[in-house]
Amino acid sequence: MERTLVLIKPDAVKRQLTSKILARFEDKGLKIVGLKLMQLSKEKAMEHYAEHKKKPFFDNLVSFITSSPIVAIVLEGKDAVTVVRTMMGTTNPRDAAPGTIRGDFAMDLGRNVIHGSDSVYSAEREIKIFFEEDEVLEYERIIDRDIY
Ligand code: PPS
Repeated sequence: MERTLVLIKPDAVKRQLTSKILARFEDKGLKIVGLKLMQLSKEKAMEHYAEHKKKPFFDNLVSFITSSPIVAIVLEGKDAVTVVRTMMGTTNPRDAAPGTIRGDFAMDLGRNVIHGSDSVYSAEREIKIFFEEDEVLEYERIIDRDIY
């Protein structure tokens, strides 16, 4: 099983899209193993987006993600990283296919609703930024034997 980090960004939390986005992942069969509403500090935002430090949009990215609360989620499932990225749609929501989260809920690159780790390596790094070890939980779902 693979784990990935998802952030429901400030725009989506303020637009009350959290439950709709969570429902998509649960309906798909991904398992929520970590979940929290949090106000991200500037320091943690800079650590999370460290690889983009030299990009012209870095300051905007950090100020946006820290502008109001986000929902941080750890999802678990087979190929969870790729499955989530496919469900999110392309980075620019105006190009994102209908049926994807960004394709259905967003219009602007700077307000693109959701973040998902782009690799297993990134997921491992990012989960540690947002969650303590004992905040990611193991449990069995009644439906587990019917999903795979
Ligand atoms: S890059 O340049 O290809 O590495 O960038 P990309 O992976 O597409 O995006 C990295 C994150 O930056 C966000 N992004 C932007 N925010 C604001 N303005 C502009 N112009 C912009 N371009 C990219 C993008 O949504 C990615 O954030 P996350 O949270 O990972 O989606």
